[in-house]
Amino acid sequence: MKAMLIYESMTGNTKKAAEHIAEALQKRGVSVTAVSPTTNINYQALSNADLVIIGTWTDGLFVVGQRPAKAARLRLLPAMKSKQAAVFCTYALDPGRVLQKLTTIVEGLGADVIGGMSIRRSDLAAGALEFVDRLLASTPKLVST
Ligand SMILES: Cc1cc2nc3c(=O)[nH]c(=O)nc-3n(C[C@H](O)[C@H](O)[C@H](O)COP(=O)(O)O)c2cc1C
Repeated sequence: MKAMLIYESMTGNTKKAAEHIAEALQKRGVSVTAVSPTTNINYQALSNADLVIIGTWTDGLFVVGQRPAKAARLRLLPAMKSKQAAVFCTYALDPGRVLQKLTTIVEGLGADVIGGMSIRRSDLAAGALEFVDRLLASTPKLVST
């Protein structure tokens, strides 16, 4: 099983979260082939990936109107037909329905979204670990034997 991550980040939190997720996956035996910003995607890794993990940050008025940041750019990501995907967002106070909205965007690319988690920016490392543990608990075959 090969995984790769794609993230959108303005001030670095979502990038850090993506790196923590990649590290945790590798520690648990999942091969991570790339951690790419949306502006510089590793297309080779994407084309070979079985699992694509896509993250962005929460953009809104902090407790209302939350939406996935750079949604227009995310909608233009390459098609991911027949791939499994998982989504995450980082946030400060309240992510609202960002995860559901991001799921809809990624499903629009053709991927099958198998899970997702909102990660508070004050707790990126622990949130990333919890996300990976949940993901692997629901899909144990992601870990190569
Ligand atoms: C313009 C702007 C709007 C934001 N709106 C929200 C919001 O509505 N709710 C929230 O919980 N966090 C909000 N945040 C906080 C970010 O989602 C949070 O800091 C995130 O981790 C930033 O990710 P990044 O460092 O990868 O850019 C906002 C931040 C910015 C800059």
